[in-house]
Amino acid sequence: MAHTHSARSRAIEPFHVMALLARANELQAAGHDVIHLEIGEPDFTTAAPIVAAGQAALAAGHTRYTAARGLPALREAIAGFYQQRYGVTIDPQRILITPGGSGALLLASSLLVDPGKHWLLADPGYPCNRHFLRLVEGGAQLVPVGPDVNYQLTADLVERHWDKDTVGALVASPANPTGTVLSRDQLASLSRATREHHGHLVVDEIYHGLTYGMDAASVLEVDDEAFVLNSFSKYFGMTGWRLGWLVAPPSAVADLEKLAQNLYISAPSMAQHAALACFQPETLSILEERRAEFARRRDFLLPALRELGFGIAVEPQGAFYLYADISAFGGDAFAFCRHFLETEHLAFTPGLDFGRHLAGHHVRFAYTQSLPRLEEAVQRIARGLRSWQG
Ligand SMILES: Cc1ncc(COP(=O)(O)O)c(C=O)c1O
Repeated sequence: MAHTHSARSRAIEPFHVMALLARANELQAAGHDVIHLEIGEPDFTTAAPIVAAGQAALAAGHTRYTAARGLPALREAIAGFYQQRYGVTIDPQRILITPGGSGALLLASSLLVDPGKHWLLADPGYPCNRHFLRLVEGGAQLVPVGPDVNYQLTADLVERHWDKDTVGALVASPANPTGTVLSRDQLASLSRATREHHGHLVVDEIYHGLTYGMDAASVLEVDDEAFVLNSFSKYFGMTGWRLGWLVAPPSAVADLEKLAQNLYISAPSMAQHAALACFQPETLSILEERRAEFARRRDFLLPALRELGFGIAVEPQGAFYLYADISAFGGDAFAFCRHFLETEHLAFTPGLDFGRHLAGHHVRFAYTQSLPRLEEAVQRIARGLRSWQG
């Protein structure tokens, strides 16, 4: 008999929303106008100056591997960005360019987690985190979080859940799926709590830049030893270019470089050259306009959903998601999503994709569609609620 697939691959769950997406595509192919609020990427295409830089890089023959840590010029540009946005000085030597934030997650989990060891993660949270931990034969200790703690781990929760196998905590600010942000003080106390246990604090800052009416603090403002994951996908609008970065303490860099060399050799060369254009004033002003557009969308969709009876107890300050409690309508979130897809041709994501904690009562809406499409979506939601028999 053929050898079966590894236990680790079998333990990894698919995105549940994929089943809905397949159905959405069928409906679309049959000519229906499907509104997609399930998609976790900006609807905007990459800004023109970045595309132009990418094209120029291809024409100039920048089509080979780069150093495993990434292009020195890009690492310096990112260090300059930390200085300018957060007022923190980061040695470019501490920055590794990775294939997406996903590549940074792969490096950090490979570096920090031995078999049988765990990181604390908030539930709900980004599902791939626990799968990366599983891949390195470690695990996730899911900590249920709700509106009372802004859907984020706190120092107190870290304290209460830390056990002999815990080696770190991973938080995201702004978070997916809830959009909540950790303050500088909260980051500092999480840092103290993990440090007391000689553990690591890993902060996913992938949605930085996409905060509304405020700027998110970087953990690097308060903790030089933290590991930071970031990405060109979301604020910089480069999902398909597969580019991100990891900031690590100096003592970790040599081992991370070794892992990078072996795991993927380097991040895409042309994408790195293109990303050099991200930090030009011309590009940043386009990105800031887009941020303002996301803010308008949130300011429309949040009250509209609350008005319809969705429970969104805390105002999300960032990312482009609204995580909504559907208890008021009864029934299960997956069936609820299916109902809206079949009857209203509206796609959004069931809570099950983000963890276990009250997942059957929650759904996530991504406001990665234009305002007119969101207005149409709200009309469909209002109508679909009338025919929902939870
Ligand atoms: C919280 C979070 N972290 C990491 C990622 C990975 O993104 P990428 O690999 O495109 O940077 C995502 C993507 O949706 C995310 O939501």
